[in-house]
Amino acid sequence: MTATIIYGNQLAETLRVKMKEEIVNLKRKGIDPKLTVVLIGDHPASKSYVSGKQKAADYIGMDSELIQLPAETTEAELLSLIDQLNQDTVVDGILVQLPLPAHIDEQLVIEAIRPSKDVDGFHPINIGKMMTNQDTFLPCTPYGILTMLKLYDIDIAGKHAVVIGRSNIVGKPIGQLLLNENATVTYCHSKTANMKELVQLADIVIVAVGRARMIDRSYIKKGATVIDVGINRLDDGTLTGDVDFDSVKEQASYLTPVPKGVGPMTITMLLKNTIKAAINHAQ
Ligand code: GUN
Repeated sequence: MTATIIYGNQLAETLRVKMKEEIVNLKRKGIDPKLTVVLIGDHPASKSYVSGKQKAADYIGMDSELIQLPAETTEAELLSLIDQLNQDTVVDGILVQLPLPAHIDEQLVIEAIRPSKDVDGFHPINIGKMMTNQDTFLPCTPYGILTMLKLYDIDIAGKHAVVIGRSNIVGKPIGQLLLNENATVTYCHSKTANMKELVQLADIVIVAVGRARMIDRSYIKKGATVIDVGINRLDDGTLTGDVDFDSVKEQASYLTPVPKGVGPMTITMLLKNTIKAAINHAQ
């Protein structure tokens, strides 16, 4: 058996074409969604992520602005900028690219963003709403993964999902979203003693650890769905996921590639959240 490969880039393209039409319709009604991205310093990976977000916004005709500030920017300066963006009625979504330089308290910054403009879904109020299954901005990577599973009609209710990784951005929230969909969820992390045995029980495996090709077919139950959130650059420059793709594709029934898998869906969900914010702000 060879797995069906879930190409996130193709799904993302279909969704972006629909959003492009939606933006045209919204603009006719006087709603013009705008995303403001704040980038502090010149972390190379962050620069590349931010430019991907800008390009995607341009592609669907969404107004976007990049505010780029030096690494020496103080916490007070950043908080003051966020305050200004919170009050700016033209701005619907605010995204402060993480990680921030060490002298800035990341949590303080996340909590300074007005929840109605928190298109990352990182504010504790929005996380609380997600946990209690209320309508809110879902964090983009977990939201993208859930959308992929749904578009492929992959059963979630009653299935055993194992999440490897417990970051605030991916691991914890994807587990919660799968629980909201009535999966039975197990989290594995660096202190988990019997990880392989647990992963072998999974119908759905979400891998978000940041270790190149760590998960091979020996971890995977025959017919499982495997979602690879990792993006690792090897010494020779190639990008690879946390999953050993060639090995796992012989065992899984569905598998996402890296690149062209989860990444493009993440950006697409950011656009979707920004449209949602603009519609909410117009009400
Ligand atoms: N850095 C890596 N991923 C993300 C993300 O989804 N949002 C923000 N703000 N920063 C990130």
